Amino acid sequence: MKIRRAVIPVAGKGTRFLPATKQVPKEMIPIINLPMIHYVVEEAILSGIEQVIFITSSGKNAIEDYFDRNFELEDFLIKSGKLKELELIQQIGKMVEVTSIRQKEQLGLGHAVLCAKDVVGNEPFAVILGDEIVRGPNPVTKQLIEVSQKNNNSSVIGVMEIDPQETSKYGIVKGDFINNEKHTMRMTTMVEKPHPSVAPSSLATPGRYIFKPEIFDALKVIPKGVGGEYQLTDAINLLAKESEVYAHIFEGERFDTGNIEGYLNATIEFALMNNDSSAMMKKIIKEKIQKYNIK
Ligand code: G1P
Repeated sequence: MKIRRAVIPVAGKGTRFLPATKQVPKEMIPIINLPMIHYVVEEAILSGIEQVIFITSSGKNAIEDYFDRNFELEDFLIKSGKLKELELIQQIGKMVEVTSIRQKEQLGLGHAVLCAKDVVGNEPFAVILGDEIVRGPNPVTKQLIEVSQKNNNSSVIGVMEIDPQETSKYGIVKGDFINNEKHTMRMTTMVEKPHPSVAPSSLATPGRYIFKPEIFDALKVIPKGVGGEYQLTDAINLLAKESEVYAHIFEGERFDTGNIEGYLNATIEFALMNNDSSAMMKKIIKEKIQKYNIK
């Protein structure tokens, strides 16, 4: 079954990027000249998604505006003959159909996803979290859609190996490999942010999921979990009791842009990967190595 919609929760306060996020949504902080959310929506589009559903909160209008047309700016660019720039911003305005839903209280990721229930309807859908950007030849959400379609349109969680000392930052998944697959497992359990001493594995989700609509039934009945929040992880465990849930070790390089170190890493790497900025970034790095005598 075709997956047409992606839910992208963007209601978080972005405290790790204060004071920038006092006034600017963290999703709008740019890596080079594209806001972080651009990379995430691009992944959705390259995965065949036709409608993006942002779960927002107050102060996040800039995200919707970014994906909308801006006629005043277009007019200005036409008048000043900046046609290349005009094309660039027009393209973004036409990228994808966007719907926004306000999450009035921040009650957790599970609650955020549940807010999308009426817009998603009775269809499978994707959930993409924007704190981590995954890059590679095959978009990660597309990889998960393919696994879902191969397995009876089941729910699928994207996972990656992490440092076992870091399990308390993520939802950790345990499963059994299916048939002769090396990357796809049937999930047996998922634990939200376990201490390394009790983590069932070191396979973590960076926030990429495909869900059957039944996830909403689970989200409606789960109690508050870790951190006093309604956790998506708890709903996934409940869903796994009723139907098969798969975990897929995806291909691609992950950048944890939700914190300063990951953000700096992504900025340098993306500049090096990009044809327009690669030579510039190499020159800057060389100069800095000399200036600060970096060994
Ligand atoms: C959420 C999820 C967690 C997942 C993580 C990925 O946690 O609850 O399972 O591994 O996103 O970024 P958060 O980082 O929002 O606390």
